[in-house]
Amino acid sequence: MYHLHHANCFDWLRERPPQSLHAVCTDPPYGLLEFTEKEVSKLRAGRGGVWRLPPTIGGSKRDPLPRFTVLNDAQKQNLATFFLDWGKLLLPALVPGAHVCVAGHPIMQHLVQGALTEAGFEVRTAIMRLYFSFRGGDRPKNAEREFPEVCVTPKGAYEPWMLFRKPIAEKTVAENLRRWKTGGLRRLGPDKPLPDSIPSGRTPDREEAISDHPCLKPQHFMRIIVRSLLPLGEGVVLDPFMGSGSTIAAADAIGYEAIGVELDDAYFRQAEHSIPRLAALYPDFTGNELMTNGSLPTLGSDDSQQMSLVLAEQPALYRVKPRPKTRRKVEKAKE
Ligand SMILES: C[S@@+](CC[C@H](N)C(=O)[O-])C[C@H]1O[C@@H](n2cnc3c(N)ncnc32)[C@H](O)[C@@H]1O
Repeated sequence: MYHLHHANCFDWLRERPPQSLHAVCTDPPYGLLEFTEKEVSKLRAGRGGVWRLPPTIGGSKRDPLPRFTVLNDAQKQNLATFFLDWGKLLLPALVPGAHVCVAGHPIMQHLVQGALTEAGFEVRTAIMRLYFSFRGGDRPKNAEREFPEVCVTPKGAYEPWMLFRKPIAEKTVAENLRRWKTGGLRRLGPDKPLPDSIPSGRTPDREEAISDHPCLKPQHFMRIIVRSLLPLGEGVVLDPFMGSGSTIAAADAIGYEAIGVELDDAYFRQAEHSIPRLAALYPDFTGNELMTNGSLPTLGSDDSQQMSLVLAEQPALYRVKPRPKTRRKVEKAKE
């Protein structure tokens, strides 16, 4: 079950009853500029602005990406203030121990972590979405031949999804779980821990055919992340910057209750259209395993690439070494 609100999430959060949400999963407007009316119309026209249009590679058209490096110091300060204000409004609406997962960019991560800590959240590490990006790895501009072995930044292969927690109100996580249903994260299964890096890949074509939002996130990754945020599978998940709704679709596919808020008219209508369609994809995949399986519908060539990345990375993550507990006990007894 889900509810969608066409609103500014700052206003919406001001009206939200205290302690009424159990988790947040969101992909916020990072550059702040990129979702202003001016920049969105440039994006929709396919010309200029902060949206970088990567070159056509191998004959396939790539999606535009926002350019975070164009932000100056004042804009970075605005970004920190934006997250501080947002965090202050969000904190009272959450139950103690609620987790907040915020999609990030390595360049902006410290600003968000600083702001949300100041707002009263605890930093609880991050989950890395491992994928192949087009960012970074370039040689110095206009001197590529002079410095053939130099790159200005490493070529990106991960997207950090920062984890935060509203401090627990009880003495222990166990007590907090009993009272508020929050405080921890849901494991993939009793014998399968939740890893902090998840092989992903780009959003499959079949999902991009449903929504043309430039930041649509893949259902495979979203279902794993969203599922993990309600440790007992109970409660309400919020996406205050839902875009076309990949978080809400993931929550719906898992069977979680969710709320989505979106400011932009066109994206809100896009969400209403996309969520049921995205949620209906891969009916057997509820985010409780890293590996997708043969029961997925037939995949196109780009999709199979994503699946092979997931499959290739999976086995090593579960190899658990037996703990040398017994030996230590014996050594102690000898002393
Ligand atoms: C990065 S996108 C999220 C895309 C989403 N991951 C998806 O799968 O479609 C961020 C969204 O936040 C929206 N937004 C920006 N400021 C907002 C605000 N104050 N309240 C609600 N939505 C806002 C933008 O219009 C944009 O669609």
